[in-house]
Amino acid sequence: MRKLPDVPAQRAFAIAGGAGQDVKHESAHKHVSGEAIYTDDQAAPADTLHAYVGLSSIAHGKLRKLDLDPVRSAPGVIDVLTLDDVPGHTDIGPVFPGDPILVDEEVEFWGQVLFAVAATSYDAARKAAQLAVVEYAPLPADLTIEQGLANKSFVRPSHVQQRGDAAAAINSAPMQLQGEFRSGGQEHMYLEGQASLCIPQEDSGMLVYTSSQHPSEGQKLVAEVLGIPMNLVTVDVRRMGGAFGGKETHANQWACLAALLARKTGRAVKLRLARADDFSATGKRHPFLSRYKVGFDADGQILGLKLELSAGCGMSPDLSDAIVDRAMFHADNAYFLPAAHIEGHRVKTHTVSNTAFRGFGGPQGMLAIENIVEQIATATGLDALAVRKRNFYSATDGRDITHYGQQIEQHIIAPLVERLEASSGYHDRRLEIREFNRSSPVLKRGIALTPVKFGISFTVRHLNQAGALIHIYTDGSIQLNHGGTEMGQGLYTKVAQIVAQEFQVDLDRISCTSTRTDKVPNTSPTAASAGSDLNGMAAKDAAGKIKSRLTGFAAEHFAVPAESVVFKDSCVCAGEHTFTFTEFIQLAYMQRISLSATGYYRTPKIHYDRDKARGRPFFYYAYGAAVSELLIDTLTGEYKVLRTDICHDAGQSLNPAIDIGQIEGGFIQGMGWLTTEELVWGEDGRLQTANPASYKIPAIGDTPPQFNIELLPDSPNVEATIFHSKAIGEPPLMLAISVWCALRDAIASVADYRLSPVLDAPATPERVLMACNELRERSVQ
Ligand code: MTE
Ligand code: MOS
Repeated sequence: MRKLPDVPAQRAFAIAGGAGQDVKHESAHKHVSGEAIYTDDQAAPADTLHAYVGLSSIAHGKLRKLDLDPVRSAPGVIDVLTLDDVPGHTDIGPVFPGDPILVDEEVEFWGQVLFAVAATSYDAARKAAQLAVVEYAPLPADLTIEQGLANKSFVRPSHVQQRGDAAAAINSAPMQLQGEFRSGGQEHMYLEGQASLCIPQEDSGMLVYTSSQHPSEGQKLVAEVLGIPMNLVTVDVRRMGGAFGGKETHANQWACLAALLARKTGRAVKLRLARADDFSATGKRHPFLSRYKVGFDADGQILGLKLELSAGCGMSPDLSDAIVDRAMFHADNAYFLPAAHIEGHRVKTHTVSNTAFRGFGGPQGMLAIENIVEQIATATGLDALAVRKRNFYSATDGRDITHYGQQIEQHIIAPLVERLEASSGYHDRRLEIREFNRSSPVLKRGIALTPVKFGISFTVRHLNQAGALIHIYTDGSIQLNHGGTEMGQGLYTKVAQIVAQEFQVDLDRISCTSTRTDKVPNTSPTAASAGSDLNGMAAKDAAGKIKSRLTGFAAEHFAVPAESVVFKDSCVCAGEHTFTFTEFIQLAYMQRISLSATGYYRTPKIHYDRDKARGRPFFYYAYGAAVSELLIDTLTGEYKVLRTDICHDAGQSLNPAIDIGQIEGGFIQGMGWLTTEELVWGEDGRLQTANPASYKIPAIGDTPPQFNIELLPDSPNVEATIFHSKAIGEPPLMLAISVWCALRDAIASVADYRLSPVLDAPATPERVLMACNELRERSVQ
């Protein structure tokens, strides 16, 4: 139970748990003890039904027959939902249409939902869902980016960002390279799968518990499929057991289906996907194919770049427009591109629609340029780090403007990298590794240092807003609510710390309630790493309103100047008078002062003209760099990361303990994307790797045994973000590019660093082995 402290007489000044302190995650103890309530743990009414879905078993084709009689007559089945039963909208595309809630005539991927069934138990529903008799008239399916490109099949129009004449700059450059590079998709593998519980309310309303990063969008879509106004739908999200972008839009369908069945049966309905179906029926990170042509000089300086980024979007637009835009925005990473032509294609394939995943296209764009930098290093014979440093944005010579026109104002990357170079002993270790490799014929070591520059803000401008709601009760306890959702990243903890700081009270005086559309309306998804930037500011605004109201009251009541009213150490002083916070709140209540306020924030300074591909889409950038060292076995392709050193810029961190946790988690997740996590589809379009036995996420044993993480000290955000902090959620994922580059470095030793290994991502042990073999062959030719 939460204990309300009274004023600690002996503790003199600081409050416990204010902004900037190392505070544990508000639910850490509940996560490990099992007390934390996830959607599936939510107390449900006694007559709650369990829903399941029937999924398609072809990648593309017409639905010729869907006989659901065997489903209807299966034991325990109460009702079945088909497209004809949907009273309202049948398309749940979040931005653009294209996502039918149930298949109408045409199946567009293996695992698409054909119908839903409600039964008295989960098992009964799952078993019944298998009994449908389905016949298809198959059509040719595009399963790969190459096939989609060849058929000119796109979910959205292509888009270009450019500066100068890239072709001319490349042609006149002393050296040129061109090539192709692929990066694979990634399954979110959140521990808690997709789940929703819908409880019908009076007046045809619906209460929805769902594991979603975007409660307001869930509310809107549930209202639309039911054909009722949004004010009759409430969505409640206390927490998710991980989301990573996979519950930004892909939580909606399950909430909508459960709501439709709840409406149809008049009973509460819960829908929870089994893992294998979660794999098949929900979107993943976009795989990318990049084709490039680059011109540079013997010093490794990039003079011109033409880059074509083609994303495998799956069957619908979903968020792909913004995701490919973000890939394009990050195709420079930390490097100045004097002349650039960056084109992004949104390729349609007959696979599940791909969606947000930590980094939101940024990692794919960044990896494309890092691969190019690696090629340049081999071609010039320079250390890749020297090439990187030569190309960094800098305050001199006008090398501080991105290819989309945003000026780089904080030149953090060069000093940050220098700091890490020194603290990790990069140069000595690199020499020592080359020495080792000369005398070790089979085992080879590799090392790489890579930078990250990541733009913070939603590139869709209107999403950069947030709201909060604070109540102070008459016992002096504070209840906080805001539009952000908790998915393990520590947002609730950070925003509560901000409120503690504002009122100068201990953190345990504040309770954070579940995110609810009836408390704070019209919220943005918790995404783009902007959760604490946006909601933290909104909460500060709400706290500020109450504080100024209380200050005005105290000044008048005690006839003292407003400046002499001070909130300090869980007390409030008004001139000579000192009260505990609780006493003061009681006094204010008795004097009829409102103790509740909403807060609001919208990000300043951002603008972007997409037609011109020019503007300032990002409020600021977050920076970081990592050095990874690893060992490969050139006869088997097996490898092990031995050591990683990271220096990351979190501005003035809101909570260093949580930020370091985000860096660790993000790095390891990125490492999984680039090494062992491989999605394999059969020729029939069925995902073959639909469980963790065949889809390999990193385990504890993959953590680098030496893992040194430092937050860049004394580096407050120059922008007026919440307490000058910086967003942390996504940028660290891209630090893992150092692992992929270190693998290349180790492989390159096989041909004495003269040739460039061919290594697409993920660099699975098989790919590493093939790259070693290919390099050996090429080096004797
Ligand atoms: N950390 C945990 N533990 N679980 C998650 O699901 N999602 C990531 C990141 N860190 C995630 C996480 C993603 S994709 C984003 S966009 C941010 O958290 C969102 O939260 P924030 O904006 O509060 O950082
Ligand atoms: Mo994160 S991919 O923006 O949900």
